[in-house]
Amino acid sequence: MTRKTPEQLRSHRWFGVDDLRSFGHRSRAAQMGFGREDYKGRPVIGIINTWSEINPCHFHFRERADAVKRGVLQAGGFPVEMPAISLSEPFQKPTTMMYRNLLAMETEELLRSYPCDGAVLMGGCDKTTPALLMGAISMDIPTIFLPAGPMLKGNWRNTPLGSGSDTWKYWAELRAGRIDEKDWQEIEEGIARSPGHCMTMGTASTLTSVAEVLGFTLPGAASIPATDSMHPRMSAASGRRIVEMVWDDLKPSDFLTAGSFDNAVTTAMAVGGSTNVIIHVLAIAGRAGIPLDLAHFDAISRTTPMIANLRPSGAYLMEDFYLAGGLRALLKQLGDRLDLSCGTVNGQTLGQNIADAEIFDKDVIRTPETALSPQGGLAVVFGSLAPDGAVIKPTAADPRLMVHRGPAMVFDDYNDMAARIDLPDLPVTADSVLVLRNSGPLGGPGMPEWGMLPIPQKLLKEGVRDMVRVSDARMSGTSYGTCILHVAPESFIGGPLALVQTGDIISLDVPNRRIDLEVPEDEMARRKAAWTPPPVKFQRGYGVIMSRHITQADKGCDFDFLAGTEPTAEPEIH
Ligand code: FES
Ligand code: MG
Repeated sequence: MTRKTPEQLRSHRWFGVDDLRSFGHRSRAAQMGFGREDYKGRPVIGIINTWSEINPCHFHFRERADAVKRGVLQAGGFPVEMPAISLSEPFQKPTTMMYRNLLAMETEELLRSYPCDGAVLMGGCDKTTPALLMGAISMDIPTIFLPAGPMLKGNWRNTPLGSGSDTWKYWAELRAGRIDEKDWQEIEEGIARSPGHCMTMGTASTLTSVAEVLGFTLPGAASIPATDSMHPRMSAASGRRIVEMVWDDLKPSDFLTAGSFDNAVTTAMAVGGSTNVIIHVLAIAGRAGIPLDLAHFDAISRTTPMIANLRPSGAYLMEDFYLAGGLRALLKQLGDRLDLSCGTVNGQTLGQNIADAEIFDKDVIRTPETALSPQGGLAVVFGSLAPDGAVIKPTAADPRLMVHRGPAMVFDDYNDMAARIDLPDLPVTADSVLVLRNSGPLGGPGMPEWGMLPIPQKLLKEGVRDMVRVSDARMSGTSYGTCILHVAPESFIGGPLALVQTGDIISLDVPNRRIDLEVPEDEMARRKAAWTPPPVKFQRGYGVIMSRHITQADKGCDFDFLAGTEPTAEPEIH
């Protein structure tokens, strides 16, 4: 491998040349207290920090950036911390998903417009990971991903609590009258005990695992709890490594292959990962120019055993997973289901990085022989209700509902659902199929996590805990239930979901991967002719860009002008 010379660094153009502009750069660096010896001939490392005082998942990132800088300095680089928009899942409305592409664009443009030779991406809360990776892949300079790490496991009266999963569970218990307000407040105070992302195998843990298996993190990084002392040590190591990556010019395009993306999908299935992973991996692959479609996810899922015993599909939490050996131990079990020749940021192959991994708790991390399910966590269904596909997580659903026929109970949008779902006379039975529309990429807008529709209160009181639910929404990676999600095309643009009426029969057949609306074609044609598109959602601002350019769920919801592999142009003007 040939090493770069200092004159070949991208930042040389800012600091090294002798012209009027570089005088400006150097004098303004001096203004911040940095002399020439601080940066001369050294790789400039952009640390993209998504820390914010309204993001509990990244609350430790302010300190962690210092550990990264320590590593960069040790290795002879010049660290520059640059804040980027923080997508805080618990606080941002209508959904952080609306802003994933904004952060992706911000990441690409920060790295492009500033003198960055390499990047450390700090993220972990759901949409942050794909957003940062998308932007960095498009920019294609040496990049390492620093996962936030899961928070400690929750606790209520010595019972472990899992982010999201146990919120939904105890909310249903509260509505059913089985716990009281005092219990509920205790749960509120015990479910999130430290900084870090959700510690179930939700979207965050799924996507950081994907980032690791794609080769973007140091080996084992994704499983380290946010507050474990290993985490700052891993952060410093990431800082040291990125400087070497710059000298070696090891870029995402040097290690991302079709095999890496198959590895990512296989891993997502083996961990029983979030349904959201499908949308995000489609978008990430799109940036890398690797063709991927929904059917491919389903094909890999059918042959991948689910071997992580983690909520919501299993029993344990991420802290247990880390102590049991973490992602490396799990990957080792997948053996030649993975392409072990794929490269990673440490310059080794994936195979080399997991060669000595061991399982320390065989109940938490299973083997293919003791798998929780012989197939992966996710399935893709097609049919007259979802011509371009929809997604379900069968491992977190009631097996009795995998083949089901029932009458639709239609809610036109989220507010309609919220207003009526608990009415005592809502005409539903346990066999009804709850339908929610106008919750897709354009209709939501931003495809909120509304897909786990609540069970109507009158049925909860009868003991019903799962029903078939269909929507063009997403659901939280920590959710569970027989929820058909991401229906494409969405209702807002006139997909068949827009034409369903209460009482229509919907049939679901997960083993045969079908979801159908049993309404004759001529009747559907009549309804379509009578359908009028809803009014546009945005008159100004970012929403207008999103409405004009977002793709449907089966394409990954990237913006059409950001997808693809057109190189990011270097700034032309000095
Ligand atoms: Fe940030 Fe779940 S809320 S990862
Ligand atoms: Mg989530």
